[in-house]
Amino acid sequence: MQMKDKIKKNIIEIESFVANTNEDLEDFRIKYLGKKGLLADYFTDFKSLDNDKKKDVGQLLNQLKTTAQLKVENLKTKLLSKTSKPKLNDLSRPGDSIQIGSRHPISIVKNRIIDIFSNIGFTISEGPEIEDDWHNFSALNLPEHHPARDMQDTFFVEKNPDYLLRTHTSSVQVRFMENNKPPIRTISPGRVYRNEAISARSHCFFHQIEGLCIDKDISFADLKQTLEYFTNQLFGKSKIRLRPSYFPFTEPSAEVDVYWGLNNETDYKMTKGTGWLEIMGCGMVDPNVLQNCNIDPNEYSGFAFGLGIDRIALLLHQIEDIRLLSENDIRFLEQFKASF
Ligand code: PHE
Repeated sequence: MQMKDKIKKNIIEIESFVANTNEDLEDFRIKYLGKKGLLADYFTDFKSLDNDKKKDVGQLLNQLKTTAQLKVENLKTKLLSKTSKPKLNDLSRPGDSIQIGSRHPISIVKNRIIDIFSNIGFTISEGPEIEDDWHNFSALNLPEHHPARDMQDTFFVEKNPDYLLRTHTSSVQVRFMENNKPPIRTISPGRVYRNEAISARSHCFFHQIEGLCIDKDISFADLKQTLEYFTNQLFGKSKIRLRPSYFPFTEPSAEVDVYWGLNNETDYKMTKGTGWLEIMGCGMVDPNVLQNCNIDPNEYSGFAFGLGIDRIALLLHQIEDIRLLSENDIRFLEQFKASF
């Protein structure tokens, strides 16, 4: 066989070569590219060739060389990826790591508040988000055309305005009173809706927890004591102040501020330099409301309070924009992994 044909045959051999182990590959490399390998032999022979043949054979020899070199490189990477892949039947290899999710900051705060009130005997009650006028307004001492209805901009169901998206979870408390006899101790967590422009500070839906306690001889002092216990548990701060306020369903009514302190720059910013933070509304359940729910106001009295979970989540985690809570951006949510 002529030298040219031999080389062509070698090129074909090289192209179809496969190596299963590193040893196979090394043998291959030595055979073709080693110091005493085929290529070296060919180059020795090449020197004694007639000049007119040198051009063709030279080109072929170069082709042989690059084909062999390329083959070695390709097989090397192939073998490497093969060996770094764990064998499927190796039972001692570590399991694949699992991506652990995180709770939503709203859920974290909600669960925390539920825990705090469960510890002092409050049950959890829930109700529908699409409510009727009675449970959201009328039973709560907000008759039709009452100006206080404007306090809570409402989304009505277009085809039947007797139905609406509840504006607070006080509606759940009405349902609870209708169906349960005192003593009552319950908290109602849930999503509520208001027709408000969306901005960093307000959204058209948010989350509330409202509490209700009804029994014989429940007084304003019980309310205050309960709130002090709550703020101490949640924030580690039990200094509160009650500012007179107005809600149609409670009388008297108050706004609750907790003393946050002025220990650093963030405190100043959060409390606008006052040290006080408003956290909820509360009051003694209006006798009209008890009556509307078939509870005798001469026998029973009670207190109620309501707070926004979103607002507390923003406060506790120093989040500046309420919209982050509903955007489901995984980069935001992942930050709460440790805060169970
Ligand atoms: N329902 C009131 C609100 O949504 C909060 C509240 C509840 C106030 C109970 C007093 C008593 O703003």
